[in-house]
Amino acid sequence: MKVAVFAGDGIGPEVTREAVRVLQALGLNELELVEGDVGAMAWRKHGHPLPAATLEIAHACDAILFGAVGDFGCDHLERHLRPEQAILGLRKELGLFANLRPAKLFEGLEDLSSLRPEIARQIDLLIIRELNGDVYFGEKGIRILPDGRRQGYDLMSYAEDEVRRIAHVGFKAAMGRRKQLCSVDKANVLETSQLWRDVVIEVSGEYPEVELSHMYVDNAAMQLVKAPGQFDVIVTGNLFGDILSDQASMCVGSIGLLASAALAEGTIGLYEPIHGSAPDIAGKDLANPMAQILSAAMLLRHSFGKEAEAVRIEAAVASALADGIRGHDLGGSHGTAAIGDAVLARL
Ligand code: IPM
Ligand code: MG
Repeated sequence: MKVAVFAGDGIGPEVTREAVRVLQALGLNELELVEGDVGAMAWRKHGHPLPAATLEIAHACDAILFGAVGDFGCDHLERHLRPEQAILGLRKELGLFANLRPAKLFEGLEDLSSLRPEIARQIDLLIIRELNGDVYFGEKGIRILPDGRRQGYDLMSYAEDEVRRIAHVGFKAAMGRRKQLCSVDKANVLETSQLWRDVVIEVSGEYPEVELSHMYVDNAAMQLVKAPGQFDVIVTGNLFGDILSDQASMCVGSIGLLASAALAEGTIGLYEPIHGSAPDIAGKDLANPMAQILSAAMLLRHSFGKEAEAVRIEAAVASALADGIRGHDLGGSHGTAAIGDAVLARL
């Protein structure tokens, strides 16, 4: 169980520290942790947000626990040197194409959701976001038009095999849940989405038990706050998934609670909270480490098949929340380390 720990920038290190304490507390003697530099801190130390040494560690490990990257002090850098390239580079380099972003309301947090409690209570969904394609990785740039105006462009595209493999992940996940899959696209406007929809329909033939529906992304954004209980599994492209998963996080109370897994065709997986580096609160003991602790649970489940340990961690987090342990993001006053202590005590 070789796990790379890439804590990164901002609140990344402090939330990752708590997740590592939780992992270590399980006393798994096969567990080996290897640290590496990513993001702005890596750029400052080595001149690159994803140094070769870090990539080497990633390739040598079974799983990666990733904190967060991003630093306003790097906004002036050329794009390929910006901290975000660390996570984008790892996703691409390791073929991490399937991003699982579950969102479920913890009991007792109804009042913290941006939605009315009776609506928030319905939320138990899984967003499956494609992570290797779309406008994220298409040709991009800023060019000068013949008349001298600057033009920015980012090419959106999906090849059918890219859609097919993420569709399979979606259908399989639905089979393990309530057997409903909603594919989100913008097929009324985008050709990329038309192909996406056609391929998802083709794949659906292999999963006759799953009820497949299609929704335009604008409508999906609306339905997610109007009647989120209608969703079981959502499968969507990189950009739409990025946006909808942040939205889903607020519906369950806080972005400080949402974990994610990024999986490849092979065995490697990367686990990270869906929140960012939040430089404004970094180093102040204000960050909620629960999303990262829950990411560690996903790591044990998806990379090592340690379901019992994953459930133990999730139960410890749920019990801390039920006992009123609340980070600042949830309107409480528990600090990062105190939340880690509370989870450890329940573990
Ligand atoms: C996420 C983040 C990243 C993304 C950024 C940091 C590049 O927002 O994981 O959702 O856009 O994918
Ligand atoms: Mg995002």
